[in-house]
Amino acid sequence: MEKNHFFTQIFLTLMAVSPMIACNENAAENNDANPDSASVAKASVTQAEYGKIGDAIVTQYTITNEKGMIVKLINYGATVTDIITLDKNQSRGNVVLGFDSLAGYLQPGNPYFGSIVGRYGNRIANGRFTLDGQTYTLARNNNGQSLHGGIKGFDKVLWNGEPVGDNAVKFTYLSKDGEEGYPGNLNVSVTYTLTNDNELKIEYSATTDKATPVNLTNHAYFNLSAGADSTILGHELMLKADSFTEVNNVLIPTGKNPPVAGTPMDFTTAKPIGRDIAQVPGGYDHNWVLRRDGNGLELIATLYHPGSGRYMEVFTTEPGVQFYSGNFLDGRLKHTRDGQKYVKHAGLCLETQHFPDSPNHPHFPNTILRPGETYTQTTVYKFSTK
Ligand code: BGC
Repeated sequence: MEKNHFFTQIFLTLMAVSPMIACNENAAENNDANPDSASVAKASVTQAEYGKIGDAIVTQYTITNEKGMIVKLINYGATVTDIITLDKNQSRGNVVLGFDSLAGYLQPGNPYFGSIVGRYGNRIANGRFTLDGQTYTLARNNNGQSLHGGIKGFDKVLWNGEPVGDNAVKFTYLSKDGEEGYPGNLNVSVTYTLTNDNELKIEYSATTDKATPVNLTNHAYFNLSAGADSTILGHELMLKADSFTEVNNVLIPTGKNPPVAGTPMDFTTAKPIGRDIAQVPGGYDHNWVLRRDGNGLELIATLYHPGSGRYMEVFTTEPGVQFYSGNFLDGRLKHTRDGQKYVKHAGLCLETQHFPDSPNHPHFPNTILRPGETYTQTTVYKFSTK
């Protein structure tokens, strides 16, 4: 009796998931001969030429997991070009802003779509800092400040890429001593893994031969509606943070971390991004100080798009997150995917990071990497529906 009931349950469960399997093209293509695993596609990484910069070939890597979720990456900027997930009705959509070709990524004014930013993500005041008694001057590219590594940051260089197993791609880059004004040869690696639990995991590591600031993050612009909504103002965001780093008029931290309670910066309980944004001059573009239990991978943010049911959870080892509501997008980018107009607030970034301008704020968590040490950071973006 018990046993029969058990098998009935299994049968009903299989029946319930079968429509999902039917519309999963990859699952259909990759079915293997074993009928028991007929519903499960094999994870894979493929690669193809994406374009050329001079004589150098830019490669696109496509990772597909067993559930049919797809992530595409290019070695220019170690960039995420596509994240394709199912919505609550099992239709596929691309949940990051992107371009239709390499020309889009190369155009002046590409606002770091999907790329890795570094050597120092976000701003360093006046492009200057003093380390061990020596003052360094960096390339300035943003109102007299150094933003995202300077004029030619890690988003604008070609990385070496290689597939790792059937679900990951590892990118490496040597940033030479003096590049954009930074001291030390920095060996950087960034590995993107797509798990069968629909998690995009990004693992960063770096070593140096001279003391240098390091702050690496990914600059993907999410819009979980996958093109259905022109802005993210209806997305509901939760940030596990009780304070944020206050900034001046050129977005450099003042050094004070005021509480979010009772202000438009309060995302401790999920709320629509559009609810209070009008009260924040220019829109959200701040670093939130995460409430953490320790140094491990912890859930720090959730994002929900009610229309599609898509839900994203963000886990990180970092102490901060830059929530940027796409304030400088103005509909003018060319080569956009499907000819979409990326208007103000078309996408949002959740850049897990150390705090902006930390080298000039000794009380902020340390961002100086020294010879013999290894910089690491891990961030996971996990996708589901509800
Ligand atoms: C910064 C914004 C900047 C944007 C560039 C974000 O990380 O916080 O101020 O404009 O990157 O697209």
